[in-house]
Amino acid sequence: MIGVTTDEIVQNMKDIRMAALFISMIVFAFGILIGFWLALTISRPVLALRDAAIKVGAGDFSLRVLPGNNDEIGELSLAFNKMVADLAIAEEKIRTAQHQLVQQEKMASLGQLTAGIAHEIQNPLNFVNNFSELSVELLNELKAETSKEASDAIMKDLQLNLDKIKHHGKRADNIVKGMLMHSGSGGNEKKEVNLNQLIDEFLTLAYLGMRATDSSFVCTIEKKLDPQLPAIMAMSQELSRVLLNLFQNSFYATHEQFLQMKGSGKPYIPSLIVSTFKKENSVLLSVYDNGGGVPDAIKDKIFNPFFTTKPTGKGTGLGLSMSYDIIVKGHGGKIKVDSQLGKYTEFTIELPI
Ligand SMILES: Nc1ncnc2c1ncn2[C@@H]1O[C@H](COP(=O)(O)OP(=O)(O)OP(=O)(O)O)[C@@H](O)[C@H]1O
Ligand SMILES: [Mg+2]
Repeated sequence: MIGVTTDEIVQNMKDIRMAALFISMIVFAFGILIGFWLALTISRPVLALRDAAIKVGAGDFSLRVLPGNNDEIGELSLAFNKMVADLAIAEEKIRTAQHQLVQQEKMASLGQLTAGIAHEIQNPLNFVNNFSELSVELLNELKAETSKEASDAIMKDLQLNLDKIKHHGKRADNIVKGMLMHSGSGGNEKKEVNLNQLIDEFLTLAYLGMRATDSSFVCTIEKKLDPQLPAIMAMSQELSRVLLNLFQNSFYATHEQFLQMKGSGKPYIPSLIVSTFKKENSVLLSVYDNGGGVPDAIKDKIFNPFFTTKPTGKGTGLGLSMSYDIIVKGHGGKIKVDSQLGKYTEFTIELPI
């Protein structure tokens, strides 16, 4: 028979409780240690990866994470670093390609412009040729002339001819200067610009350029240019690129509509209305055409780079995105579009004075 007293039982229970408590504390401490160890080996590198991914997402490709241990996370870090390096290379390639496309776009619009310019230069050149031929004839007459009165009259005519040659020579000179201005790489100095005059010049060039590439193109043009319009401080070369693209877009839209309407037999007169007016501290320019319009579904896309609905080879889709940059970023202005499908499209530009 084994005799156990109550005290012994109580003492044993205490011992067991103490032992249990002790073991629990050890397990608990162990758990905390494992937690720390996990945080060190897993969470920290994962968090570092997350932070790096956020920065890479924001466009910083210079970041690399430390590969750390030789485990899965180490491998993940290595793969991440490789991905970032590849992304940096891809982004550089895209940048170069984009730059090339912008250059191509400039060249394409220059091509159309050149056609317009060649057309316009032909006219003063004809005058110069004709008046100089006439002058040679007059000189011969003068040599043979004996009466003073008749000689004086011939000399007067000669003087008039020379004035005309000078005048038309100057016109041709201005056209060439305009072309050089457009093709230059573009200083970003702001100078006083007469917007109405710039519109006049580039509307003619855009029109002649369209006519030169497609002789069936026609469009009535109405200019409502405010004669009181104040001069603005702007980069005229950049503005001229915006104007040229807007006019070319409108001419293209009206011509497409013209071809479509011709097929359906309905009467249609392609038309463009360009107006300017002053509003408080800014000038407004509106380019309104009665072409096919911009569908609602693409209205918020047309200012994106490379967005175009034109067939391949006809447009790069850079015109409006370039215009947006020039107007908004370059001049602190605004550009917006309003359009109704099948009826009209109106682009409005607001520029601070
Ligand atoms: N006046 C307009 N009428 C109808 N659609 C227009 C008009 N202007 C622009 N768009 C639409 O916006 C798109 C983008 O115009 P954007 O000038 O940026 O490029 P693009 O004219 O297509 O090509 P690019 O200007 O590079 O030759 C056009 O393809 C067209 O769908
Ligand atoms: Mg365009």
